[in-house]
Amino acid sequence: MGYSSKFYLVLVLSIYVGISSASSSLEDQKRDKITELPGQPGNVGFGQYSGYVTVNEERGRALFYWLIEAPHSRGPQSRPLVLWLNGGPGCSSIAYGASEEIGPFRIRPDGKSLFLNPYAWNNLANLLFLDSPAGVGFSYSNKTTDLYTFGDQKTAEDAYTFLVNWFERFPQYKHREFYIAGESYAGHYVPQLAQLVYQRNKGIKDPIINFKGFMVGNAVTDDYHDYVGTFEYWWTHGLVSDSTYRMLRIACDFGSSQHPSVQCMQALRVAVVEQGNIDPYSIYTPPCNNTASLRRGLNGRYPWMSRAYDPCTERHSNVYFNHPEVQEALHANVTGIPYSWTTCSDIVGNYWTDSPLSMLPIYRELIDAGLKIWVYSGDTDSVVPVTATRYSIDALKLPTIINWYPWYDNGKVGGWSQVYKGLTFVTVRGAGHEVPLHRPRQAFILFRSFLENKSMPLSSS
Ligand SMILES: *[C@@H]1O[C@H](CO)[C@@H](O)[C@H](O)[C@H]1NC(C)=O
Ligand SMILES: *[C@@H]1O[C@H](CO)[C@@H](O)[C@H](O)[C@H]1NC(C)=O
Ligand SMILES: *[C@@H]1O[C@H](CO)[C@@H](O)[C@H](O)[C@H]1NC(C)=O
Ligand SMILES: *[C@@H]1O[C@H](CO)[C@@H](O)[C@H](O)[C@H]1NC(C)=O
Repeated sequence: MGYSSKFYLVLVLSIYVGISSASSSLEDQKRDKITELPGQPGNVGFGQYSGYVTVNEERGRALFYWLIEAPHSRGPQSRPLVLWLNGGPGCSSIAYGASEEIGPFRIRPDGKSLFLNPYAWNNLANLLFLDSPAGVGFSYSNKTTDLYTFGDQKTAEDAYTFLVNWFERFPQYKHREFYIAGESYAGHYVPQLAQLVYQRNKGIKDPIINFKGFMVGNAVTDDYHDYVGTFEYWWTHGLVSDSTYRMLRIACDFGSSQHPSVQCMQALRVAVVEQGNIDPYSIYTPPCNNTASLRRGLNGRYPWMSRAYDPCTERHSNVYFNHPEVQEALHANVTGIPYSWTTCSDIVGNYWTDSPLSMLPIYRELIDAGLKIWVYSGDTDSVVPVTATRYSIDALKLPTIINWYPWYDNGKVGGWSQVYKGLTFVTVRGAGHEVPLHRPRQAFILFRSFLENKSMPLSSS
């Protein structure tokens, strides 16, 4: 066979493969299109897709996503794509991010009908919610042992594989501006995934995943500084006694928080009793009557690993997402998962092992790379408090560009901000752990500022 015919064959084959994968990706995309969710308001004016992306064929692991596009009237095709991740470990981005924080729909207490969130972030960007890792929400593994051995690396690897396959299914998003955002324990997931995307994009011109930066809120960042700042927050906000504060600082060996001592666990238990029946995720708002008791246990090794977030709204999602009609409309649970849907998976949370002590080395690498990095904090959260985040950022020793200043929303202080070289820090005044739940309007301003890469507003606009 001569050179030219071989070349011809390769050409024909690649055209054929190109066409067939393009058409099958569009078929997959069409199959994932959501016509309408049960109980949703009509004529919402934005596109929605959801379904599964296989991340490991051999083990049968598939991750569930929900894409909510910007309204047609706001030109979704010219807007960035933002991947949102919740933490836990084990909590669903569908349950929290999509349904009570930044998504367009909120669930009514009847567990059946939905109403619109006027401050939904999909007004500014196309939002991609991912349940990660397998075992969370509708994401599953056919090898259930996978769920007991999950660590961060596999989580980030699976999420990366998800992204690569997802962009094949949605080629219209290739090369578009792409960001990752998340909260709480996603303070690990977000930088870890960001690092993988950044490293694998290195040296590629015009990469498919056009990664521009990330944003995290009330984020677990560095065990040592998180511990110091959390205990300090408890004491300075009058939540624990002097003696318990002293005991926490002595007994909790900050150096090896992977294996806290018996004395540290004992001190943490005393602290929980002293705090009483408050909502630790939002210390000045009432706890949910029915679920408050569930959240008092210290079932994790870390104070921030007790796993429920908002006191009441999550109960509504527990009802809604277990409806078979809702699952059908979402193309979810198509394989008959042998357990019911929960907002947070205890298996994934309780068996979590691989938890690096610090994300700061990743921050250093990605700051040097010139990515856009924003860190925000609701200042009434006692689980991953503002003091913990400030100590972690301080440890990066970044030069300050704009010193601490109040930012404004409609003439009122919305919070404070400090702009460092390579990182912008923003607090949201009076917001708990889930900033967009407690302060939706201020969170919207924050998201807009992040996307536009503008410092937080000095006066109302
Ligand atoms: C998991 O198993 C089910 C039932 O055998 C199968 O339909 C599904 O495709 C498998 N999932 C993956 C990701 O391989
Ligand atoms: C909590 O709920 C129970 C039963 O529904 C009720 O009797 C009690 O008064 C409630 N407590 C508070 C503090 O609202
Ligand atoms: C999946 O569907 C089955 C019924 O086929 C149901 O029993 C189970 O609770 C569902 N699981 C999830 C995670 O939705
Ligand atoms: C964002 O703004 C800062 C300061 O205003 C600038 O140094 C940085 O290059 C910008 N980043 C991006 C990604 O545009």
